[in-house]
Amino acid sequence: MDPQEALAILERERARGFDLVVRAETPEAIRDAEIAVLGRKAPYSEVQRSLGSFGEEDRKAVGRVANEVRGALEAAIEARRAEMAAAEEARLLEADRVDVTLPGRRLRPGSLHPVTIVERQVVEIFTRMGYRVAEGPEIEDDWYNYASLNFPPDHPARSMHDTLYVDVPAHPGLLLRTHTSPVQIRTMQAQEPPLYVVIPGRCYRHEEVDPTHLAVFHQVEGLAIDEGLSFSDLKGTLEAFARAMFGPGQQVRLNPTYFPFVEPGAEVEVSCFKCGGEGCRVCGNGWIEILGAGMVHPVVLEAGGYDPERYTGFAFGLGTDRVAMLRYGIPDLRMLQDGDVRFLEAFAGAI
Ligand code: PHE
Repeated sequence: MDPQEALAILERERARGFDLVVRAETPEAIRDAEIAVLGRKAPYSEVQRSLGSFGEEDRKAVGRVANEVRGALEAAIEARRAEMAAAEEARLLEADRVDVTLPGRRLRPGSLHPVTIVERQVVEIFTRMGYRVAEGPEIEDDWYNYASLNFPPDHPARSMHDTLYVDVPAHPGLLLRTHTSPVQIRTMQAQEPPLYVVIPGRCYRHEEVDPTHLAVFHQVEGLAIDEGLSFSDLKGTLEAFARAMFGPGQQVRLNPTYFPFVEPGAEVEVSCFKCGGEGCRVCGNGWIEILGAGMVHPVVLEAGGYDPERYTGFAFGLGTDRVAMLRYGIPDLRMLQDGDVRFLEAFAGAI
């Protein structure tokens, strides 16, 4: 190859190179173009290899043109690459575009379970009177659930019929508490008198489930122990509770009944908070039974470590599910446990 030929090749390659680069649409096509015009096998490289065979003048002249062509092609390749990167970035941004004018997705707030609502109200009414909240385990033994509460050994409530036993070979005799009263004993054991506590909790009985009976249900227990507490304190406390819970006109009626852990014992009725005491479908005769109560039996005080000569007290136990049923007109207690969201949503914002 002579110098004239070399210069002609360089001009041709400059034009061909620009053309290839401009037409390249992908990073791969650019690389192919680069190899085709500046690679080892490209005509450009042949020109470079022949420079050594030219005289000094020609070598310098052709060499200068060769450098200039390389510089121009490299710049064109670089510019095309930058152009492509910018286009790719714009594409990615476009793909990520967020429409800030779209309306937001509304979160559906949960709501409290009706039993939770009632339980909190009961607890709040008593904490405002100065009571503290206590809790105890749902798995108990015979002593806490029965014996310490003065149940005779042959009392029918201990039979398999009522009690659900827990089968743990290492701890024979465990059971699911059938009421919140065992926490009376636990609280007395843990604290010195005077004592004013409410104890919300879940209870279990071996019960045929129907519209008015659940095998898993809730109680709020109350326990007040002090010097000089009398039955009239119990009645006054229950009246104050009933009025705070169901309305200022509430009447409370106590009928004698038997619970082994109280003496005397009473079942407590409040005037119907639907009809006000005239008699309706909810109450029948104008009264609704909502709790059991009584003066704490001396044997129970002793089991809790308190001196029955010095202290007296009263206790009561309220069926939370039943109060929720009556208050909200729920026809079947099982609805409280079906977990049907449409039922539960009806209590959003309820009081
Ligand atoms: N523990 C009793 C029950 O479950 C209720 C009760 C509590 C009665 C406290 C009197 C005093 O039926």
